[in-house]
Amino acid sequence: MTEGGEEKKFPQCKVVLLGDSGVGKTCIISRYISGSFDSNSASTNGASYASKKVEYKDINKTLILDIWDTAGQEKYKSLTKFFYKDAAVAILVYDISLKQSFENVKNYWYQQIQENGDKNMVLGIAGNKCDLYEEEAVPEAEAREFASSIGAIFGLTSAQNNTGINELFQDAGKKYLDPNFQQKLEVEKEEKQVDEGEKVQRLTLEKAEVKKEKKKKSGFC
Ligand code: GTP
Repeated sequence: MTEGGEEKKFPQCKVVLLGDSGVGKTCIISRYISGSFDSNSASTNGASYASKKVEYKDINKTLILDIWDTAGQEKYKSLTKFFYKDAAVAILVYDISLKQSFENVKNYWYQQIQENGDKNMVLGIAGNKCDLYEEEAVPEAEAREFASSIGAIFGLTSAQNNTGINELFQDAGKKYLDPNFQQKLEVEKEEKQVDEGEKVQRLTLEKAEVKKEKKKKSGFC
C-alpha cells in the first residue's frame, strides 16, 4: 500500500496481470513493488493486490498503480474474470521458454479481456523469464507482432534479473495518462451513462404500462 492518504491526492489506475500459472506474475509484481525475487514463489490463491506511486517528471504527473495479481491455475479461472472489472490496464504474461503459455495469451487470456474487460484498456504483453534466452521457445518478433496487432505495448522481462519490469509498468501508466486515451475513457463513460439512462427510462415506461394494464383489468380508468 502507498503511504497514508496519497491514494486520494493522485489519480489511480487499476492494473491486472493475467497469464498461465507459473509464468511469473507474482514474481514480476514482487520485483516491482519490493525489489525482491523468490525462486520458490508459491501459486497465487484467487488474487492479491499492491499499490505503487509512479512519478512522470517529463509530463509532471503522478499516478498510483493498483496492481492486481491473479491466479493462473485452472481452478480459479471462473473467479479471475471478476478482477478485470474496472481495470484500466491489463498485462498479459507468458514465459518465453514455454510456447503454450504464449498460445494461451493469444487464444485465452486476450479473449477473456475482450469478453469481460472494458472496451478501452491499455494492453501490455510481457515475455517473462528472458534470462532463460537459451531455452527461448517464443521468438521475440512473433510476440511483438501479436502485441502490435492488438495495439499492446510489449516488453521482455525477467523478474529474476530485474530486467524490463520498471519499464513495463512505467510505459503502461504513461499510455493510461495519455490525453488521447483519457479522452476515449471519457467517451466510454458517457456512453455507459447514456445506456444506464435509457435502461432506467425503459423500466419506468414498462412499469407504467403494467400499472395501466392492472387498472384496466380491475375496471378503474
Ligand atoms: P500463479 O500464481 O500460479 O498464477 O503463478 P505466477 O504466474 O504468479 O508465477 P510465480 O510468480 O509464482 O513464478 C513461478 C515460478 O517461476 C517460480 O518458481 C519463480 O521463481 C519462477 N520465475 C518467476 N519469474 C522468473 C524469471 O524471470 N526467471 C526465471 N528463471 N524464473 C522465474
